[in-house]
Amino acid sequence: MINPKNIAEEIKKKLPIKQVKTAVILGSGLSGFAQELQKGQSLSYKEINGFPQTSVSGHKGELIHGYIGSEEVICLNGRFHLYEGHEPQTIALVIRVLKDLGVKRLIVTNAAGSLSTDMKPGNLMIIKDHINFSGKNPLVGPNNEEYGPRFPAMNNAYSKHLREKCKKVAEKLNISVKEGIYFMVLGPNFETASEVKAFGSLGGDAVGMSTVPEVIAAVHCGMEVLGISVITNYAAGLVNNTPTHQETLEEADKASSRMSALVTEFIKEED
Ligand code: HPA
Repeated sequence: MINPKNIAEEIKKKLPIKQVKTAVILGSGLSGFAQELQKGQSLSYKEINGFPQTSVSGHKGELIHGYIGSEEVICLNGRFHLYEGHEPQTIALVIRVLKDLGVKRLIVTNAAGSLSTDMKPGNLMIIKDHINFSGKNPLVGPNNEEYGPRFPAMNNAYSKHLREKCKKVAEKLNISVKEGIYFMVLGPNFETASEVKAFGSLGGDAVGMSTVPEVIAAVHCGMEVLGISVITNYAAGLVNNTPTHQETLEEADKASSRMSALVTEFIKEED
């Protein structure tokens, strides 16, 4: 297994990282935030030895370092999904690289399908909690005690403090936000209509194919997490519809400026 510390050292040699506290992972079609970074310098994932590579359209594959106001930020523009064939442990590796760079607070964004007609395409949903239905976990395998315990608690994975702050920032910017439960499936197929019904009755508000492995690895190593989903579509069959990747990218693109504004102001505001 590749040592995250070696990757972090290499990144530090190539980018002027000082004391970075915040990292942002951008979901499908949400890369607009990357343009908000001042003094931004990026490394393509290909330029980082040992770093995994992305393969999905809408996911660029670059690590950007820059500033939002005076706050130093690292941004992963392009994420790793289990459905691409990445091992769950690869996602833990990426999060531990961030940890070794100094990151204490992780902001994750994604596109997700609505499991309830109350949650509409275009809505932003602050993730209150998740249900891991992927059958995979990034912490499987020998535990590295240096990062966290064998059996980490996951019941406060999405920091209440950060969620409350995000709601306040949204109100100030006049951006409407909801709060809900993110239901993770492995993908890559969209759900059947029966799955959508089942996932809704199991407590999910939105379904997606990412984020949860990152959050589990981040919580394991002691990071505070904020998650925000863009609802890009009604999940299959909810309104007699068939979702497509194109539709999710287009809807995420429409919401991208609102998401960027929210995340930017969230980072600028004192905790
Ligand atoms: N299902 C799963 N993942 C998704 C969806 C969906 O409907 N929309 C965006 N990501």
